[in-house]
Amino acid sequence: MRTQVGIVGAGPAGLMLSHMLHLEGIESVIIERASREHVQSRLRAGVLEHGTVDMLKELGLGERISTLGLEQHAIDFRFGGESHRLDFHQATNGRRTWVYPQHEVVTDLMKARMQAGAQILFETSVTRIEGLQTRKPTIHFEQGGEPRELQCDFIVGCDGFRGVCRDAIPDSVLKIYDRVYPFGWLGILAEAPAPTNEITWGCHEDGFAMLSIRSPSVTRLYLQCEPNEDADRWSDGRIWAELHKRLDVPGMPPVNEGKITQKGVTAMRSFLAEPMQYGRLFLAGDAAHIVPPTGAKGLNSSMADVKVLGRGLVEQYKRGVADILDRYSQICLKRMWLVQRFSAGLCTMVHQIPGDNAFVRRLQRADLDYMTGTVAGRLAFSENFTGLPIEI
Ligand code: FAD
Ligand code: PHB
Repeated sequence: MRTQVGIVGAGPAGLMLSHMLHLEGIESVIIERASREHVQSRLRAGVLEHGTVDMLKELGLGERISTLGLEQHAIDFRFGGESHRLDFHQATNGRRTWVYPQHEVVTDLMKARMQAGAQILFETSVTRIEGLQTRKPTIHFEQGGEPRELQCDFIVGCDGFRGVCRDAIPDSVLKIYDRVYPFGWLGILAEAPAPTNEITWGCHEDGFAMLSIRSPSVTRLYLQCEPNEDADRWSDGRIWAELHKRLDVPGMPPVNEGKITQKGVTAMRSFLAEPMQYGRLFLAGDAAHIVPPTGAKGLNSSMADVKVLGRGLVEQYKRGVADILDRYSQICLKRMWLVQRFSAGLCTMVHQIPGDNAFVRRLQRADLDYMTGTVAGRLAFSENFTGLPIEI
């Protein structure tokens, strides 16, 4: 088999890149380990940055976001027993975010790709990639138990944190930056309407909590927990009691209870691999970087990488100019370190960190006061949360 761009992984990054290339007449093949149903039903991120939504709309994928997406203008931070509403729309002169779950983004992308006759090999595992420094890099994969090969001009590793592409970069070249946090999130899906139409963060001395939205009748809730917590240790009664304690404040409607339909624990880590390219291999999305979910940057950062890479590949194929491709890693890493800074900073500001003393807790409180109570603090949060510009 042969193609122009071989893509490993049909998550948001792989599907979006394949879609962008198709619109410009560039051929790609995606190889995906999981089934189509599995890829489309994975419950993950919820918030789309302003730039991500603009990108989806520009590429003809905005129809369902316009009807089902919930536009957000503010976050309600709750701490010290009070509500502190941070209006990022106002602070940034009109920038917004949307609650539009990742599985809907993937569904839209999958539909567009399938309608265009995309070549996606599902339930097919890539075993290794090679020849990255040659003009004919190759993807090795297994189909129906048989070993097969895909020869490409370029390989793009969109295979997430546990994929195989990153490992193809020699240890002497690859530098890993990593931090694992001593807490996790218990993620809960409940059949209950959100009490207001704004995402609410509870920064409480017993641990962080968040209330987000998935649809007018479904809430997505998170509770800080132990990193390796067994979700079954959290009974429904315990979950609702902790959510009320950490999120409810006088004068604001309390959390609405409802049937819990899903719960699971997510670990928290910050991770970045440098460089994001090696010869004819490019890494995009979680294959290159992981952020703690607090800042809602995982999916959005994948889209930012793909925007740069898509533009670079189009320049290469259409005009024979390699300038953007050559600078891909440099362009993405500069922005990604700012995203890491925001995500890690927010994560350590709002969680209770085991072993921290009273001084650190007062500093956390001062950070929250500064972020919500000053013009500079509100602006800094707002421009990061709604999405930093992508400077190519
Ligand atoms: P992925 O979505 O991970 O896609 C990678 C794909 O590659 C997968 O489909 C995988 O099956 C495939 N693959 C892997 N190895 C191989 C192989 N060898 N051969 C073939 N295919 C392979 N972000 C937020 O912003 N907010 C959140 O609340 C949030 N919650 C999350 C909860 C969880 C449990 C997880 C895991 C992530 C969460 N994220 C969140 C992060 C966000 O979902 C990711 O950043 C986003 O999915 C990254 O997209 P991606 O396409 O780069 O990678
Ligand atoms: C979510 O809806 O999953 C979500 C919302 C806001 C965040 C993180 C996650 O900051």
